[in-house]
Amino acid sequence: MSHTERLPRNRTYLMCPPEHFTVEYTINPWMDTTVPVDPALALKQWHLLRDTLSDLGHAVHVLDARPGLPDMVYAANGAFSVDGRVYGARFKFPQRAAEAAAHQLFYAGGPWTFADPEHVNEGEGDFAYLPGAYGGLILAGHGFRTDPAAHAEAQEVLGRPVISLRLVDPAFYHLDTALAALDDRHITYYPDAFSAASQRVLRQLFPDAVIADRADAEAFGLNLVSDGHHVILNTEATAMADKVRAHGYTPVLVELTELKRGGGSVKCAVAELRP
Ligand code: ARG
Repeated sequence: MSHTERLPRNRTYLMCPPEHFTVEYTINPWMDTTVPVDPALALKQWHLLRDTLSDLGHAVHVLDARPGLPDMVYAANGAFSVDGRVYGARFKFPQRAAEAAAHQLFYAGGPWTFADPEHVNEGEGDFAYLPGAYGGLILAGHGFRTDPAAHAEAQEVLGRPVISLRLVDPAFYHLDTALAALDDRHITYYPDAFSAASQRVLRQLFPDAVIADRADAEAFGLNLVSDGHHVILNTEATAMADKVRAHGYTPVLVELTELKRGGGSVKCAVAELRP
């Protein structure tokens, strides 16, 4: 594939400002309640991320932050939409449960067909959509948060094949910490975050994937947002930036040190809306 084909497509995103962001409980290995978050810096970095996406020509909707929901800044977890249909989230941990209703309310205000889920799933944190792969393919993670039963439920709601992938490393507890869509049909992933069988599935479906290593994953280099040409990464992920550049994409780096304290980065903070 020639690099000139890496064309950007205008996207619509949903973000939620870290107005009540703290690390006051531990539900993933990155969260350390003894290290204080800098709230002003978190907000400043978030605004820079939002402006970066807007400046690239994308529409960014903003969901109001709610007190008592410190992880609401990780908007990717609130739902998963494909072609106007929305599969709602059901959080694993009670600390985040109320975020699902806030997201549902957002979709109620637009032309969406919303499905309330029966099974535990953490939205786009554990789902990725590749519209140009095999006629439209959903990749789905399980092992830490999302119940595998939610993968079958998502397939029924969204009408696209769902490929189940098992995550095995607690440091990479959501699919979006270990795998990302670079464009409509190409992905990048860190193989060792997945079971041996799931690695085989990924090799079979995506033989031309950009392979990341442990250092890339630990720098949250897989937790990226791509418009098909620009790949937005956090500033720690310099090796990942070099990798995507070598494959014809243009990396755009944004500092997100505070969001990492909660166990997330660029992708966690951005839900893609697919009307
Ligand atoms: N503290 C949040 C949690 O553990 C971080 C969520 C990160 N989001 C993501 N899409 N990976 O639930």
